[in-house]
Amino acid sequence: MKNKINRRKFLNTALKLVTIPSALSLQNCGGSGGGGNGNNNPSTSDITNPPKFAKNLLIPKLLTGTSFNLNIKSSTHSFFDGINTNTYSIDDGSGQMSYLGPTLKLRKGATVNIQYTNNLSINTTMHNHGMHLPSNIDGGVHNVIAPSNSFTANWMVNQKSCTNWYHSHLMGATAEQVYRGLAGMTILEDSESDALDLPKTYGVDDIPLIIQDKVFAADGSLDYSPSHMEHMRGYLGDMFLVNGVITPKLSVEPKQIRLRILNASNARVYNFSLGGKSFTQIATDNAFLANGVNMTSLKLSPAERAEIVIDLTSNFNQSVVLKDLSSGAEIMKINVDKVLTTTKTTMPSVLTTTLTKFAFDTNTPTRKFTLAKNRGRTGLFTINGVSMSKAVINQRVPLNRIEIWEVVNAMPMVHNFHIHATHFWIIERNGSSANVPANEQGYKDTVRVDANSSVKFVVKMVDYTNNTIPYMFHCHILEHEDRGMMGQFTVE
Ligand code: C2O
Ligand code: CU
Ligand code: CU
Repeated sequence: MKNKINRRKFLNTALKLVTIPSALSLQNCGGSGGGGNGNNNPSTSDITNPPKFAKNLLIPKLLTGTSFNLNIKSSTHSFFDGINTNTYSIDDGSGQMSYLGPTLKLRKGATVNIQYTNNLSINTTMHNHGMHLPSNIDGGVHNVIAPSNSFTANWMVNQKSCTNWYHSHLMGATAEQVYRGLAGMTILEDSESDALDLPKTYGVDDIPLIIQDKVFAADGSLDYSPSHMEHMRGYLGDMFLVNGVITPKLSVEPKQIRLRILNASNARVYNFSLGGKSFTQIATDNAFLANGVNMTSLKLSPAERAEIVIDLTSNFNQSVVLKDLSSGAEIMKINVDKVLTTTKTTMPSVLTTTLTKFAFDTNTPTRKFTLAKNRGRTGLFTINGVSMSKAVINQRVPLNRIEIWEVVNAMPMVHNFHIHATHFWIIERNGSSANVPANEQGYKDTVRVDANSSVKFVVKMVDYTNNTIPYMFHCHILEHEDRGMMGQFTVE
């Protein structure tokens, strides 16, 4: 397959990142998870793909409360039996997280204090993606945490219940740091989510799914070695992981199950399905949808989240497989093989009545963002013709002003667009509101922008101003972000 030669070359020169028990014999037959289409070929792992649906899904440790002390550190994680792969993880001191970070459960109205200490030997940052907080504690490229240093985000949670996440945002190195494990989920709750009859027991019927694709070298190490082509198109793996487990299985009871799906992949756009079984999407990135949307497939680009509910009440002793229709990959099997011991839920017909779609008209001020590639030899990506510079504020946005932001993807490949600070509401795709599907009509902070297409959304910056410390907007295909497809805005 393509890229094999690059990979061999890489393996010969790479740091050996893992220790392999000598008795283990490894074959060199590549992965088999991909099966992708022509323009979507993943890089190929050099280690045998483990049997599908053999390992149990790991559930990241849940932390609740208002004060969190997290260590960002080097770890080893067992992706393959008998192999300790070098990773990064975020841990609360218990030593339980060897890849990714614990799930943080925060409550609206609470003043929370999250301290991250960098125990790596390299710089990092930790961004609270989806969180509405002041720019000076946003954890973006300006909040660098040097080795042995700490960074604290302290603010009052003031937004609707949703599923967010946190991840490294180090300028130029986000892709590799997230790839090696610097990401975790955040769950926000409020009185609205309390009142809904939805599955809420973490790890039992309310399941976090942090979905990623990876490439592994023959020795089981995480292979992050994008070629020029892979920087351009984004780095795709041939093995699919959920919460750090390759194609896992999950046992559940015959009842409604809530999945909090986070696409934490560097570059892959998924089109999830459950083998034709219908499900209900209940939440977008930053809030519940007004009403559940019945679906049989769900597209998620990197950093997007969706909460879905599957009704498995009448599926006892059956299973469903979570697939990606775009690549054909099977990702996880859900076995309905547990005896019912917890309470069943009934899908509420109304999820929230308090979503605000800001009023706009033809006089609403519009900003345009054109995503493109630099014409020069640099191979850099641009937004409005310029690549990210920490020293440049690209946009200054007045507080409390309703604006339309138009994102134009001028390239024949998919990108997406994420903004820090707050959520937005998509109002048009390709010039028409009719092109916005029902499951995108809610609070979003990241939107897929298909090849040669455009998206318009309405947004209002509220609460926090800072004329000098900016927030970021960017493509969340991490190779693109690292290669300049990012800019900065202040709220003034
Ligand atoms: Cu998920 Cu600017 O970040
Ligand atoms: Cu973000
Ligand atoms: Cu992009």
